[in-house]
Amino acid sequence: MAERLGRNDVMDRQRKIATYEQVSQAIEATLEGETDLLAAMATVVCLLHHAFDAYFWTGFYRRMGPERLLIGPYQGTLGCLEITFDRGVCGTCARSGQTVVVPDVHQFPGHIACDAASKSEIVVPVFDRAGRLIAVFDVDSDRYDAFDEVDQRYLEQIMALLSRFDMAPIYHLPSIVSC
Ligand code: SME
Repeated sequence: MAERLGRNDVMDRQRKIATYEQVSQAIEATLEGETDLLAAMATVVCLLHHAFDAYFWTGFYRRMGPERLLIGPYQGTLGCLEITFDRGVCGTCARSGQTVVVPDVHQFPGHIACDAASKSEIVVPVFDRAGRLIAVFDVDSDRYDAFDEVDQRYLEQIMALLSRFDMAPIYHLPSIVSC
């Protein structure tokens, strides 16, 4: 069985907090004046992915149906294209509307292994200003136990920044009735 690394082996807590503070400021500054949700998602992914060694796969799954997630902007190895709400860590997050932290993905029933190198994971819900789920933000690490309450707190704050974007996801647009 692979050796489990403690949280402090992955990254010192204070260093992690300082890095999240810096990245959060960089994200806010970069997104100032931006109105396009896709551009914002791509920016968030890029800045976070390159700030942390523990981030192995970083990306969004967008809500594209009542219970359907479709891949959005991401960095890392090839991600699964589509995930339904009844599957995986992403589906669990989408169903509950709550952040899910998984210290060991091999112990999570139904975990979807897009890449066998993934060992731990955090998935954070993304809501629009009306409180509707529009996406989930998924980070995988190639280390066990890489994510804790610090990651949850900062990632939830960063995802809250996306609620101000006006571009509604397709799922929430009024349906077009043909004559
Ligand atoms: N592991 C996720 C699937 C997405 S990939 O990690 C990129 C899950 O179980 O939902």
